[in-house]
Amino acid sequence: MDKKKFYITTPIYYPSGTWHLGTCYTTVICDAIARFKRKQGYDVFYLTGTDEHGLKIEQKAKEAGVTPKEFVDKKVANLKALWDRLKISYDKFIRTTDGYHEAAVKKIFDKLYEQGDIYKGEYEGYYCVPCETYWTKTQLVDGKCPDCGREVSIAKESCYFFRLSKYQDKLINLLETNEEFLLPKSRRNEMINNFLKPGLSDLAVTRSSFTWGVPVSFDPKHVIYVWIDALVNYITALGYGSEDDSLFKKFWPADIHMMGKEIVRFHSIIWPALLMALNVPLPKKVYGHGWLLMGQDKISKSKGNIVDPVELSDRYSVDAVRYYLLREIPFGQDGAYTTRAFLSRLNADLANDLGNLVKRTVAMVTKYNGGKIEPWSGKKQNTDEEIVALAEGTLAEVSKNMDELHIPEALEAIFRLVQRANKYIDENCPWVLAKDEANKGRLSDVLYVLLECIRIAGVLIEPFLPDTSEKILSVFDGLTAEEKSFDSVTAFGGLKAAAVIERDPIFMRVDIDKEIAEMESKIEKQEEQKPEQAPMAPLPPEITIDDFMKVGLRVGKVLAAEKMEKTDKLLVMKVEVGAEVRTIVSGIAKYYTPEEMVGKQVVVVANLAPHAFRGVVSQGMLLCADDGKGGIVLVSPEKVVASGSEVR
Ligand code: ME8
Ligand code: MG
Repeated sequence: MDKKKFYITTPIYYPSGTWHLGTCYTTVICDAIARFKRKQGYDVFYLTGTDEHGLKIEQKAKEAGVTPKEFVDKKVANLKALWDRLKISYDKFIRTTDGYHEAAVKKIFDKLYEQGDIYKGEYEGYYCVPCETYWTKTQLVDGKCPDCGREVSIAKESCYFFRLSKYQDKLINLLETNEEFLLPKSRRNEMINNFLKPGLSDLAVTRSSFTWGVPVSFDPKHVIYVWIDALVNYITALGYGSEDDSLFKKFWPADIHMMGKEIVRFHSIIWPALLMALNVPLPKKVYGHGWLLMGQDKISKSKGNIVDPVELSDRYSVDAVRYYLLREIPFGQDGAYTTRAFLSRLNADLANDLGNLVKRTVAMVTKYNGGKIEPWSGKKQNTDEEIVALAEGTLAEVSKNMDELHIPEALEAIFRLVQRANKYIDENCPWVLAKDEANKGRLSDVLYVLLECIRIAGVLIEPFLPDTSEKILSVFDGLTAEEKSFDSVTAFGGLKAAAVIERDPIFMRVDIDKEIAEMESKIEKQEEQKPEQAPMAPLPPEITIDDFMKVGLRVGKVLAAEKMEKTDKLLVMKVEVGAEVRTIVSGIAKYYTPEEMVGKQVVVVANLAPHAFRGVVSQGMLLCADDGKGGIVLVSPEKVVASGSEVR
């Protein structure tokens, strides 16, 4: 009989930024699921890759002074190295710049155009020129750009549209009747109530203001919208739209599309609509997981709070990182990263519970039995019945949780067995049994029960912590493939190896306070050394000293600051400039909290024409440095000077 198939995907990643711990969340989750399914005997296809087109990449490449392709090639190499480091067992890595993908995207676009699902029209919207963004009327705030608060103008450009509106009823029906299609449940309600019920507009699916994308074959001034290009990767990766679509025939429809919650809308509305239009079956499940947060924010490089997964792996092991991501964050919800929680998991679960169980047991077998594993008599005394039943039932417990995508709970089930085994040592006191030759048989059985629990835990933990599994199982001399299989862990007594080998501890305990102090001082040092070279933005034309003297720069002191309502970008400040107190609105709210700003000395462009941001008139502007990585740093006098001092 053919093996059962399982197709799982991550989103394809933007190769634009720096990778952080949050970036690894989706791939590590999918990796555990993919490995688990393989162990269960499924024929698994695990897809990941990169989403390489679009204006953002084009701009980043320009800033870096390289071509877009050169830019993404380097990023993709880094990303692949990261996935290798984290033991991500993907079966295919698709790049949207791959020739076969681009060809298939064009074909798909042609087909949709020919059948009337894509049509040429005119995009008309409210355009904010400085932000280069179109807004709809309802998105405007007081008729102005919701991002920067400036005037918008009505702009038109010709472009192609996808008839998304045509699929509205079918999509509502899909989400309302198929409860398994979009999980967790809360996301389904959000999609229905916030997007589908209010009504879908047709979607602009081409752009003509930049060129880094897949051109429309019959109208190459236009490039295909990056999200259309990106979404279809899930089928082009399998050969859809190419000469060889055997993988498509074999694996489609996908069993799970996994992603963070911020892109669920694209996957549960636009993607199914595209598939409906193409007459391709829909994926079985779309799952929108939560975010890994740091303080209040999603971890992202612009916040300057990068947690480098490679650094964490180098220092504490890859599996400590995988374990944290898989176990600590309630799956489907957001979870805040803290170094303390990360290290506590490492100490409590990995070093204490798991590491010690293996270490103590192997040490006892070595000491009392010369390293030999005596076959189990099968006689059950005391709590044997209970621990044997628990061990035999663990795979079922883990499987049930994995099927329901209760990932932390699946790991918990394995650790329940580990903890039970530790308790079993204390209940049976092998060191007492070892004192009396008459207890030799019982001692051997107690040790066997422990070793068998260790083997079962070692086999079951492989999908989650592959290195750890290998280390655990390496304490058994000459373990067979059969003894490492899922099939062998449901009936107690499958351990056939004849001896144990003492190995280095699987995990080391760390001194949490010391580690945190070291990390903090390292971060401080890095900050001191920071001023590396930033790619220099093109300079405006030369000016004379007279031109410069037209700018009235003055030192100011921030007396009060608060966030502007309904934005996450703007701070409204009271700034003392000489004898005046001015109101200044500045787009720094993402980089500085109001509390941080109060008391700071700043440099004010004091003769700038007043400008209203959402009805608040700003009397001047603060000077800031762009760190070239999406961050903003305030410019301050190097020593305290009187407020109102001239800057020239
Ligand atoms: O969205 N916590 O790519 P991407 C949890 N190219 N998950 C996080 C995270 C965090 N702090 N930061 C990122 C894109 N992720 C598109 C997808 S698919 C057709 C196109 C997750 O590089 C994020 O939620 O921004 C997503 O699942 C993945 O990283 C890639 O995000
Ligand atoms: Mg994103």
